[in-house]
Amino acid sequence: MTLLLLLLTFLLSLIIHTTAQSLNVSTIAVQNGTSVLECWSLASPTSGRGAQNYPLGDSSNAFIGAIPPHTYIGQAWAPSIQYSMILQGLVHLSLPNSKDDIHIQPGPLSIILVIDQKNVSISGHITEFPGEEMTLIAQFPITGNQVPVHTVLHSGPCGVDDVKGLIG
Ligand SMILES: *[C@@H]1O[C@H](CO)[C@@H](O)[C@H](O)[C@H]1NC(C)=O
Ligand SMILES: *[C@@H]1O[C@H](CO)[C@@H](O)[C@H](O)[C@H]1NC(C)=O
Ligand SMILES: *[C@@H]1O[C@H](CO)[C@@H](O)[C@H](O)[C@H]1NC(C)=O
Repeated sequence: MTLLLLLLTFLLSLIIHTTAQSLNVSTIAVQNGTSVLECWSLASPTSGRGAQNYPLGDSSNAFIGAIPPHTYIGQAWAPSIQYSMILQGLVHLSLPNSKDDIHIQPGPLSIILVIDQKNVSISGHITEFPGEEMTLIAQFPITGNQVPVHTVLHSGPCGVDDVKGLIG
């Protein structure tokens, strides 16, 4: 009986451990027709060859953008639902209707999901590249322009506590 209980506890902790490790990304989401920053939890990883593999799904026409230092884009909308990953440089995202903003640099917090297309958000978001070096961003438009399956962890961007599993 005790052995069975131990085994069940072990299995349960294994399950919790595995499901709790899903990839969390800052998202420019939409609430009530305006763009907001939220921390979203995406699909759980699979493991293989000593790695945790976090699925991002299919993307179409992925590309790397190179943006010169001190570039101000201003108010814009997501051209499609897409993941962006900052490879180099610095991005500052802010919102016309919110105090939330985020500075993104390479690292575990460098992935963002942008879903505020013009037909769903009246405000969009404000983008600038205030750094001293060229910013490189890998962009992955999601095939079919679908919002990925997710749960909202909290409002505002993800913080260091949300990516503990990526820091180790
Ligand atoms: C939604 O937006 C409308 C128009 O901007 C505003 O009047 C309303 O108070 C908002 N509702 C919520 C729940 O934020
Ligand atoms: C907004 O436009 C995109 C195409 O750019 C489309 O895929 C999406 O379904 C539209 N969303 C709504 C809510 O109409
Ligand atoms: C994502 O957030 C969940 C809930 O806070 C946490 O348990 C998990 O460790 C996080 N994932 C990573 C990869 O840090």
